[in-house]
Amino acid sequence: MKVLNFGSLNIDYVYKVDHILLKGETQASSSRNIFAGGKGLNQSIALGRAGVKTWHAGCIGEDGRFMVELLAEAGVDSSFVKVLTDSPSGHTVIQNDKDGDNCILLYGGANQRITKEQIDETLEGFAAGDYLVLQNEISELPYLIEKAHEKGLRIVLNPAPMNENIQKLKLSYVDLFLLNEVEASQLTGVSYEKEKELFQTDELEKSELIGALRRSFPKAAVVLTLGSAGSVYFDEDQLIRQGIYEVKAVDTTAAGDTFTGYFLAGMTEGLPIKESLDLAAKASSITVTRPGAAPSIPRREEVI
Ligand code: RIB
Repeated sequence: MKVLNFGSLNIDYVYKVDHILLKGETQASSSRNIFAGGKGLNQSIALGRAGVKTWHAGCIGEDGRFMVELLAEAGVDSSFVKVLTDSPSGHTVIQNDKDGDNCILLYGGANQRITKEQIDETLEGFAAGDYLVLQNEISELPYLIEKAHEKGLRIVLNPAPMNENIQKLKLSYVDLFLLNEVEASQLTGVSYEKEKELFQTDELEKSELIGALRRSFPKAAVVLTLGSAGSVYFDEDQLIRQGIYEVKAVDTTAAGDTFTGYFLAGMTEGLPIKESLDLAAKASSITVTRPGAAPSIPRREEVI
């Protein structure tokens, strides 16, 4: 069984600010750092650092070669990453405020230059039963999902960032969703706001949001992260709850990606779901204590 992550690679320009900018405001930042990021790359780095043999596919410009080196250091095979000579890599402008929260402005760049040909060539290296991990930062996702389904790959989707493109996908082909409560709400049309108190209890079976996800995707498993209320795994037969590890956050960027990578690591290793959730919660609690996206993701030996 192989794990292929077909996803974005971004250069993150991270500005430390007092607060997230208001409309019309100009604010001086206290520092700027440049990190490797992108939801795709971060999740591959998490998988690789967790010890899973992972293949990453995607597109970068000449300016993104350092990201390929980072993937290699994490043990990720990047032979399916194409370097374009006529496009810059994707990049982001990230504001990181004094509480560790962020907001992200995304420029797709080479991530939006994935072609059907690249997808066909890449999928030739994979077979039924292999995992395909996806996010929503690359072009040609509908085709990719269609072809992967035809080949019998197990499809894992992190529908982030959430936008109208997600609704254009054959979501019934997805075997496992990993998403947060805001994305779940946007996907189902059911508000999470009024369930915030419920999420803190052990009565999640009563959640309308979870009910809506189960009805919308009856054959899929779902991992739903709930911020300070932790996370929950559910499928048609079971619901398993996980708390958080409380830490002082300096930068929450890539916390969700770390959670995704480490949960998948546990699952593909055959750990019980509860242990996989716990591993993911521990790993992401380390990520938020460090600045940046990919560099903040822990190695397996740090996650104890
Ligand atoms: O999930 C965090 C990532 O989102 C950042 O690294 C940024 O590149 C955006 O894709």
